[in-house]
This record gives sequence, structure tokens and C-alpha cells, in this order.
Amino acid sequence: MSENILNRFKDETVETKIDTNKKIRVGIIGTGWIAEPHVRSYLKQPDVEIVAGADLVEGKAEEFFKKMGVEAKCYRSHKEMLDDESLQLDAVSVCTYNRTHAECTIYALNKGINVLLEKPMCVTTEEAVEIIKAEKASGKVLSIGFQPRFDENMKMIKKIVQSGALGKIYYIQTGGGRRRGIPTPFGTTFIEDATAGIGALGDIGCYSLDMVLNAIGYPKPLTVSGYKSDFFGTRPDYSGYANKGKPELAEKFQVDDFAAAFVRLEGGIILDFRIAWAMNMDTPGDTIILGTEGGLRIPSTECWNGSVGGAMTLYHEVCGQQTSTEIPIVNTNGNLFDLKIRSFVDAIKNGTAAPVPSSQIFYNQAILDGINKSAELGREIELDLPEI
Ligand SMILES: NC(=O)c1ccc[n+]([C@@H]2O[C@H](COP(=O)([O-])OP(=O)(O)OC[C@H]3O[C@@H](n4cnc5c(N)ncnc54)[C@H](O)[C@@H]3O)[C@@H](O)[C@H]2O)c1
Repeated sequence: MSENILNRFKDETVETKIDTNKKIRVGIIGTGWIAEPHVRSYLKQPDVEIVAGADLVEGKAEEFFKKMGVEAKCYRSHKEMLDDESLQLDAVSVCTYNRTHAECTIYALNKGINVLLEKPMCVTTEEAVEIIKAEKASGKVLSIGFQPRFDENMKMIKKIVQSGALGKIYYIQTGGGRRRGIPTPFGTTFIEDATAGIGALGDIGCYSLDMVLNAIGYPKPLTVSGYKSDFFGTRPDYSGYANKGKPELAEKFQVDDFAAAFVRLEGGIILDFRIAWAMNMDTPGDTIILGTEGGLRIPSTECWNGSVGGAMTLYHEVCGQQTSTEIPIVNTNGNLFDLKIRSFVDAIKNGTAAPVPSSQIFYNQAILDGINKSAELGREIELDLPEI
């Protein structure tokens, strides 16, 4: 095949020089599903050594590292690993289920170790406060694992907002969902209260919130009126269970499979939110951002996991004429997980700010928890978030 002549005009990739003299010693806490992309991305970094890992399940960490072809010392809990000072860990990835995010992160920060914490930040606002206090006291890097941040299309949403093309933003509708998509491929850690704490809210709701809140500069959430339900997850005949011959999963289901909320944000902005792991609908709608000068439509996806579903449309006026501009989908240079891991390692090595800071994700977490608490109370609640 002949060379595509247009390739000659492509921007050349700028290679940043990585100092391999100082290697970052990394440990993995929790060796389940998400630990794999972390390890794969760390292995691509010439200045990182994976030296240890821990999992509560006997033999799981050993089996995991064998499969990944990594020689790492294995432990039965985050404490056992973090207490072993001979490891001289610089950083850990917290890849545990939501309920143990806070304790693992706080323990690591208290030991003076940098943390890359998987999303959602944790389960409750109170936990998030404790995490941030530990982070501040440690002076270490804490970054939250929102890889969609590194997607060029996501960045474009922020650029459009910052350009002023939308004017003053006053209303946002966001969320996403799946017709049948309760995640139970590797067990029940996503659907049991003791491990997950929150369901669709924490798994995919946090992505919808981050997409829009990051774009508009993370205004403080003030009030939440939330709703949640579990009509699908608790049904033994839910097709996702029945197709696997596992109706008993319904008995384990203790979290939300759908949630919705009306949130007031500082600056007079209204956020209308909905998220579904399962519903009798193809999509609960695109994300829309309404501003005084323009409106932006961001298409949803079938399996909502924090990516832009197609070309975005900017609705605006030119000289009194209503018009619209298509913002085409662009490719991101690199794998999002690699970019997430690299940005964390760079922040540690360069002493720079966390790429996805806890100060922002605190508001994301407060909304998730606010929805949960408001839904349980059956009324709107004020968040009254502390300055930490
Ligand atoms: N960024 C993403 O794209 C993405 C994708 C999937 C999952 N996640 C997040 O990653 C987290 C884990 O998800 P998963 O699918 O890997 O779950 P998982 O249940 O497969 O794995 C979690 C593992 O953590 C272990 N664990 C829990 N507490 C521990 C502790 N104190 N010490 C040591 N090990 C401990 C468990 O035994 C389990 O093996 C969740 O919070 C989830 O939201 C993120």
C-alpha cells in the first residue's frame, strides 16, 4: 500500500526525556480486575519498578503477578505491605473495591507514600475528608484514577467552556446508562454493600460528573435532591444473571442500579443527573451544557464509561442567525491508562501537583454521597462542605 501523503504533514510526537536514574518503587494494593491495566502501564515506564503487591484473598496476589510476568513480593493486606519498610516504596496504586479505598489510601499517605487511588474516590463524604487531611499532612501526591481526563475529546469540552463560547453556564444535564450492564463478570464486589457501598453511582456516575464539573471548573455543590433504585439488580430473572445461569446474584445485590438527582452548584448552576446500570431505554440522554452564548451537546454512549460518544455539536448564533458547529471526534495520542500512570509518576518525580486532584474530586464524591443520603431520607439535603 502506498503511504498516505497526508501523514507527512502530521505533527511529530514530542518525546519527553525520562530520567531513568531514579526509579519509582511501586506497590499494588488489590490485585483484581483494575490492577491489570495499572501493572501493564507501569511496566511500560522505564523509570518504574513494581516491587510488591497485596490482596486480602490468599494466593491472589501471587497468581496475579505470575500471570503478569512480574516478580513482586506478595502480602495479605495493605497494612502488611506498607509496614514492610524494607520495600522502600515510593508509590502505591490503590486498586481495591470502593469500601477499602479510604483506609488503604490514608494508611499509605501516613507512611509518606504517594498514592494513585482508583475512582470513585471512596464511598462517603466523611471518608473523603479524612483522605484529604491525610494527604495534606503527608505532603505527598494523591491523584484519583479518572483516565477519561486524558482523552482529547474530554479536554475539548473544557477548552470550549474556557473559550467563552458558551457564555455563562446555567444548566447542565448529564449522566449515562446501559440497558443491561450490572457488572458481575468477576464476582460480586461491585454489587455488595460491604465491598462497593455505592453501585452505578460510584462505578459510572462519577465519570459523568467529572466530565462536566471538570469542564466548568468544579464549582462547589450546595444542595442535592437524590433518588436511587434497585429494580433490576434484585430480580433473579434479570437477564444479565439469567443468561449466566446465576439467579442467586439477585440476593447479593445491595446497591443502586439507577440514580437521579437535581443538584444546585455555586454560581447559580443547575445540574440534572441520571445514571443507570440497567434500564428499559437505550440511553437516558446526551449530556447538554446550556450557556447564555451557546449550548453544547455531547453524545452519550451505549455502555457509559466516560467517553464521548460521537461528534459534539455547539449551538450558537452568528450575526443573529441560529447556527451549529460540529466538533469532530479526535484521536488521543496514547492509551488513556498509560497517560494516567505516566502523569502520576511525573508528578512524583517533578514535585508537581496531582494530575487529578482530590480537591476537585471531593465535590464529585460529595454529590455521589449526597444523592445516596438524600435518597435514603426522601428529601433534598444541604451539603455544607468543609474547607479542608
Ligand atoms: N478506572 C477504571 O476504568 C476502572 C475500571 C474498573 C474498576 N475501577 C475501580 O477499581 C476498583 C477495583 O475494581 P476491580 O474491578 O479491580 O475490583 P475487584 O473486586 O476485582 O478487585 C479488588 C481487589 O481488592 C482486594 N482488596 C480489598 N481490600 C483490600 C485491602 N485492604 N488490602 C489488599 N487487598 C484488598 C480484594 O480482595 C480484591 O481482590 C473499584 O473501586 C472500581 O471502581 C476502575
